[in-house]
Amino acid sequence: MTNVAIIGGTGLTRLSGLEIIHREVIHTPYGEPSGPVTHGHLFGREIAFIPRHGPGHTIPPHQVNYRANLWALQHIGITRVIAVAAVGGITPEMKPARLAIPDQIIDYTWSRAHTYFEGSLSQVTHVDFTEPYDRALRSAMIAACDSAKLGQMNNGTYGATQGPRLESRAEIDRMSRDGCDLVGMTGMPEAGLARELELAYATCAVVANWAAGRGPDATITMEEVGRNLDAGMSDVARMLEALMPL
Ligand code: HPA
Repeated sequence: MTNVAIIGGTGLTRLSGLEIIHREVIHTPYGEPSGPVTHGHLFGREIAFIPRHGPGHTIPPHQVNYRANLWALQHIGITRVIAVAAVGGITPEMKPARLAIPDQIIDYTWSRAHTYFEGSLSQVTHVDFTEPYDRALRSAMIAACDSAKLGQMNNGTYGATQGPRLESRAEIDRMSRDGCDLVGMTGMPEAGLARELELAYATCAVVANWAAGRGPDATITMEEVGRNLDAGMSDVARMLEALMPL
């Protein structure tokens, strides 16, 4: 049994180096997770893995069943969740292919199933979200990046947008005025739901592209996204190797 899970994002549908033990199909009260949970050994530690967008990368960000994914992980005894997520870089330090361990979130998503606290409740619950990411898990991930000399960013505000389209230049300008350093489509409601389940949750963001209007090019191409994610994901693997056994 393990208590550590990795949720893989775009570019991390399969975890290279994972020696698979078995796959577990879990049905939840919230519907089906993105796919079976894969149990395996990663750098000598047993972990669970779930690809956020499904095994074939077919589930867009606004249709991911975040509630089912996290419920399934908690159901099998997971207490710590490392979320890997592709993002756009807004501030100049958030360069393509760089890793960042964000410390704050602003939620711009809408109409997603974003809470477990609804329906027939015995009481209304408001979880604290002052620090949206788990402090100890973030520190361990930053230490792992440091020891692998990855040149990561140790802070940053993640702005979660609805997608699946990318943002307009004006939307990114507004997010920048709000204080966002990174933009992605999956950070929420995932982090909030993890907090509701009292899971320790932290994100390793991989900058896939300059956010709209921030880079030298007029448009964002899937070719540049793919290239930067390939480079960034090899750093994610080095971070995970340095992190294990967690
Ligand atoms: N915007 C939103 N989500 C993203 C981006 C982006 O530019 N790049 C990768 N995920």
